[in-house]
Amino acid sequence: MATIEQPNITLEEILLTEDQIRRRVAELGEEVTRKFEPHGRLVVIGVLKGSVVFMVDLLRRITIPCTFDFVHTTSYGTETTSVGDVQLIKDITMSLEGERVLLVDDILDTGYTLSYLVKHIQSKGPKSVHTCVLLDKSSRRQVDIAPDWIGFSIPDTFVVGYGLDCAELYRDLPHVVGVRLE
Ligand code: IMP
Ligand code: MG
Repeated sequence: MATIEQPNITLEEILLTEDQIRRRVAELGEEVTRKFEPHGRLVVIGVLKGSVVFMVDLLRRITIPCTFDFVHTTSYGTETTSVGDVQLIKDITMSLEGERVLLVDDILDTGYTLSYLVKHIQSKGPKSVHTCVLLDKSSRRQVDIAPDWIGFSIPDTFVVGYGLDCAELYRDLPHVVGVRLE
């Protein structure tokens, strides 16, 4: 019988509790609301799949009218790091012409994914593009990109939970936890 190959994963200490995340997401929602309130509305674009849990929580903390859509990318590399070859596997389907866009991702690591997506969205004629990431591993950056909002800065350790996965596992955990890979 065929078996699915899984890395040997050990969950380590909790880096961010459910409560810490909830409070920070509420703050981010208020800041985003304040920024875009004068413009009346916002288009939120989530990067599948990692940003989904964060994005739906954030959306409910933004109190101006929002529409949303998703984009999905992939990049060649190992299970835990990307090598800059970002490919689009699902594009945004709504028009961004003249819109104010907030691009939301789970984690900014090398920066390849977010910088690729900012350029991609800019080519669709929006009025502005801002970025919000839940987590930032700034020590791993390969591309010069600074998000407009960061939930938490974390050290260079691989994490899962609250949308983030390792081989598709653990996205459903309510907190963010470090993992050891063997
Ligand atoms: P970047 O292009 O290297 O910035 O990669 C960003 C993407 O890599 C994120 O959207 C995640 O999908 C993935 N990633 C980077 N670090 C982690 C991690 O610690 N846990 C889970 N996924 C990660
Ligand atoms: Mg991702």
